[in-house]
Amino acid sequence: MNNVSVIEHPLIDHYLTRLRDKKAPTAEFKVSLDRLSYLIAAICYSELKSEKHHVSTPLKKTSGTTVRQPVVLVPILRAGLGLTRGFIDLYPEIIVSHIGLYRDEESLKPIKYYFKFPAIRDKKNARVFIIDPMIATGGSIIFTLEYILNMGFKNISVVSLLLAPEGIKAIEERFSVKEKRNFHIYTCSIDEKLNQKGYIVPGLGDAGDRLFGTL
Ligand code: PRP
Ligand code: URA
Repeated sequence: MNNVSVIEHPLIDHYLTRLRDKKAPTAEFKVSLDRLSYLIAAICYSELKSEKHHVSTPLKKTSGTTVRQPVVLVPILRAGLGLTRGFIDLYPEIIVSHIGLYRDEESLKPIKYYFKFPAIRDKKNARVFIIDPMIATGGSIIFTLEYILNMGFKNISVVSLLLAPEGIKAIEERFSVKEKRNFHIYTCSIDEKLNQKGYIVPGLGDAGDRLFGTL
C-alpha cells in the first residue's frame, strides 16, 4: 500500500527494542513509550502549517514562524494513551479526542465503548492524528478511520508502533482509492505476522496490559 511509511531513527529502534523485551517492567515500558511519543511526534509534525510573522529579539526585529493549524489527536483507548505525551507537549494547542475500543477476545472485532470528538468547523484545514501502538487485524483502526473519514476530515495520519501485514491488507481492501488519499499510516515496524490469537509476532505482547500493569 502506498500510504504506509516506516519511520526510521536509531532512538526509535532503541526504545522499540526496550518495549519488545518481555523482561521490561511496567515502569520501563511506560517511559520507553513516552520517549517514543516525542520522537514520533516530532517526525509526524514536520508538515504542520506555520504562519510567518515578525519577532523582536533583544537586538533586532527579524522574521519568525508560529505553527497555526487546528490539530486533533485521537488516542485509541487504552494503549493509545501511552503515545499521547509527546504529541501534546510539543504542540499544546492540540485538541485531544478519545475513542474507546476493545477487541472481543473470540471474534477479534472491535467493540466501541466511548467516543468524544470536538466540533471542528475547518475540517479541510485540520489535521487528525489517530494513535495506537498496535495495528494487528486492522479492525480497530478501520473502525476509527471510518468514523473520522465520515466526518469529512481529509488530512489524517495514523500513527502506530507495530503494524501486521494482515492489518495492511485489511485496510487496503476496506477503503477505496479516493478514501485512501485522505490518510497516511506511519509505523515504526512492519512485523512478520499474526499468531492464532491475533497477536503480532514478534510484536511486544498486549500493549494495554503491559502499559497499565493489568497483565
Ligand atoms: C489493542 C491495540 C489496538 C488493537 C489492535 O487494543 O491497542 O487498539 O488491540 O488490534 P486490531 O488491529 O486487531 O483491532 P485492545 O483491544 O487490546 O484494548 P486495550 O488497549 O484496552 O488493551
Ligand atoms: N493488541 C495488542 O496489544 N497486541 C497485539 O499483538 C495485537 C493486538
